[in-house]
Amino acid sequence: MVKVKTKFFCTECGYESPKWYGKCPGCGSWNTMVEETEKVVKTQGLTSGLFHTKEKPLPIINIESGQEPRIQTGIAELNRVLGGGVVPGSLILVGGDPGIGKSTLLLQTSHEMAKAGLRVLYISGEESTRQTKLRAERLGALSPELYVLCESSMDGIEEAIDQVKPDFLVIDSIQTVYLPEVTSAPGSVSQVRECTARFMRISKGQGIATVLVGHVTKEGAIAGPRMLEHMVDSVLYFEGERHHSYRLLRAVKNRFGSTNEIGIFEMKEAGLDEVANPSELFLSERPLGVAGSTVVASMEGTRPMLVELQALIASTQFPSPRRMATGVDHHRMNLIIAVLEKRMGMFLQNQDAYVNLAGGVKLDEPAVDLAIAVSIASSFRDLPTKPFDVFFGEVGLTGEVRAVSRAEQRVKEAAKLGFKRVILPEKSMKGWKGPKEIQLIGVNTVADALAVALD
Ligand SMILES: Nc1ncnc2c1ncn2[C@@H]1O[C@H](COP(=O)(O)OP(=O)(O)OP(=O)(O)O)[C@@H](O)[C@H]1O
Ligand SMILES: [Mg+2]
Repeated sequence: MVKVKTKFFCTECGYESPKWYGKCPGCGSWNTMVEETEKVVKTQGLTSGLFHTKEKPLPIINIESGQEPRIQTGIAELNRVLGGGVVPGSLILVGGDPGIGKSTLLLQTSHEMAKAGLRVLYISGEESTRQTKLRAERLGALSPELYVLCESSMDGIEEAIDQVKPDFLVIDSIQTVYLPEVTSAPGSVSQVRECTARFMRISKGQGIATVLVGHVTKEGAIAGPRMLEHMVDSVLYFEGERHHSYRLLRAVKNRFGSTNEIGIFEMKEAGLDEVANPSELFLSERPLGVAGSTVVASMEGTRPMLVELQALIASTQFPSPRRMATGVDHHRMNLIIAVLEKRMGMFLQNQDAYVNLAGGVKLDEPAVDLAIAVSIASSFRDLPTKPFDVFFGEVGLTGEVRAVSRAEQRVKEAAKLGFKRVILPEKSMKGWKGPKEIQLIGVNTVADALAVALD
C-alpha cells in the first residue's frame, strides 16, 4: 500500500510542519493547524519564484508613473469602495456569508462592464452555466461580450483565459478551483494559496482585473490561509443582516484607495439596487416625538449618513443591570452611562440600558457619543426629543463635548433631509457656515446638549 504523507498547515500564516501543534510556532495562534496531504510534484509557477522579471533596480525618481488608470464598473457604489474604479491588473478578493449576494453582485458588475465594451469572463465552479444564465435573465444581465464558463480546474481556466482574452475576470469561487499538481482537496490551504498565486501571476502579467470570490468561515473571516488576504490588492466584504434587504460592501484592505468607504445596496427580485441616499433608507421607519430616539449624523468614509439611534432605559430585575448595545461600541455606551451618572446625577445603577442603531447599521466613530447620551437621558427621563434635531459630537470623561471632523458635511446632509436643528460641538463650528435653513447649536458639555434637546 502507498503511504500517504500528510503535513500540517497554519490557516493564519501558512506555517508548514510535519506534526500538529496546538499553538502555531509561526504566528502563535491557537488551534489553527490543519492536516493536508502533502503535494507531491513541485512545478515552477507555484508560490516560489513567482516573479522573475530580470529587471534591474532603478532609482525611484527614474521610474515612470502617472495616475493609475481606472475602469469604471458601471456600479457607482462598487467604484466608490474600490477608490474610483477597478485598476487593470489588480486582484480583488470578495468575501461574504453564504447567500448574501456575492454572485449576484459580480454577475451584475460583469454585465455592466461588458455593456461598456469590455470583454468579461465569468467562471463559476459552483453553478452550472444554465443556472448562471437563469440568474442573468432574472437580473437582466445578458450581454454578448459576457462569457460564462463552469470550470474548476486551473488548466481549464487558463485555457479559457487564453481563448477569450478578457479584460475583466471573475472566479466564483477560489475555494472550488484546484491545481492537479497539488494533491490536497479544493478549498484546502495549499490549494487556495497556490491557485491564488497563479491568478496573481495571470492578472499582473496580462493586465486582467480579476475578482476572486472567497467563502467565509464560521467566524466570518475568509476561508483559507490568512496569507490570501496579503496576496491580493484589495479585500472586500459583502455583509448584511439576514432580516434586512440591504447589503453593505466594505473594503478592509485596498492598495489603490481608502478603506473607509462603504457601498450600500438593496437586494431586490431584479438584483442589487444601489442606494445612493442611505440616510433616507435608515430614517424611513423612524417614530417621531418619542422618548429615547435621536438621529445621529455620522460619516462613513467621505459620505455622511444619518441614522436613527434608540435607547431604552428600564428598571432592572437583576442584581446587576443589563447593558446591551447593537451597532455601537458596547464600551462607549458604558462610558457614557458612567458620565451621565457622575456628571448629570442620573441614577442608572438599577436600570437596564439597551442602545440600538436602527436598520442593523454599525457605526464605530466617536461622533455618535452625543446621540447615545441624549437618547439615554431622553428615555431615562421619559422626555421625547424633537423630531427635527440631529446630533453629533464626542463625549469626554468630564462630560465635555469634543470636536469631530467633517462637521460641515454632516450639517449639509442634515439640511438636505429637511432637519431643522443640529446640535454639535461648539469647537467644530469654527471656520465655516452651514446652510441658512438649518439652525446650528454649539454645545460644550453634555449638560448643555440635554438642556437644548430635552427642554
Ligand atoms: N427570485 C429572487 N427574488 C429575490 N431575491 C432573490 C431571488 N433569488 C435569489 N435572491 C436573493 O439572492 C440571494 C442569493 O444570492 P447569491 O447566489 O448571489 O449569493 P452568494 O453570496 O453568491 O451565495 P453563495 O455563497 O451560495 O454562492 C438569496 O439569498 C436571495 O436573497
Ligand atoms: Mg455564489
